[in-house]
Amino acid sequence: MARFTVKIAAVLLAFIVAAPGPEVTAKKYVVGDNKSWKPNINYTIWAQGKHFYLGDWLYFVYDRNQHNLLEVNKRDYERCISDHPIRNWTRGAGRDVVTLNVTKHYYLLDGRGGCYGGMKLTVKVEKNPHSIL
Ligand SMILES: *[C@@H]1O[C@H](CO)[C@@H](O)[C@H](O)[C@H]1NC(C)=O
Ligand SMILES: *[C@@H]1O[C@H](CO)[C@@H](O)[C@H](O)[C@H]1NC(C)=O
Ligand SMILES: *[C@@H]1O[C@H](CO)[C@@H](O)[C@H](O)[C@H]1NC(C)=O
Ligand SMILES: *[C@@H]1O[C@H](CO)[C@@H](O)[C@H](O)[C@H]1NC(C)=O
Repeated sequence: MARFTVKIAAVLLAFIVAAPGPEVTAKKYVVGDNKSWKPNINYTIWAQGKHFYLGDWLYFVYDRNQHNLLEVNKRDYERCISDHPIRNWTRGAGRDVVTLNVTKHYYLLDGRGGCYGGMKLTVKVEKNPHSIL
């Protein structure tokens, strides 16, 4: 009986260890895929059909001399106004990570040229229904 219990405990433990945590399921999106963050790409189309969940992250790759990455509110996003960003995600290397750790709409744009060439992206972040947390 004791051996049996140990066996069940071992099976349970293996199951718990194997269960994907939020770190395992978190997805990294390269914004624009191989086209990255640059003008004349419709990022609304890029985001279509994708589901962004809490813990996922967006990776922006771009020319640091030409562009930056700012988070603004909805109103400013619609008008491409970058004068009072909510957050400046620009780190300086042209490689920025936006951690989607809040369930909300993120409104991101290139602030150098006011959505230059349509460089803006909004994503809706939801709680992952498959997450065990
Ligand atoms: C990006 O990927 C698409 C589809 O996989 C491909 O057709 C295109 O040539 C690629 N572009 C570049 C710049 O690598
Ligand atoms: C991008 O695509 C969306 C969805 O098809 C469309 O509504 C929007 O007008 C497009 N934006 C530009 C700047 O073309
Ligand atoms: C954003 O941060 C970068 C890097 O710290 C800085 O160079 C840039 O001036 C800032 N831009 C704005 C609009 O605050
Ligand atoms: C989300 O991530 C940002 C950037 O790493 C951090 O500044 C912020 O405190 C985080 N917010 C929450 C609610 O964890």
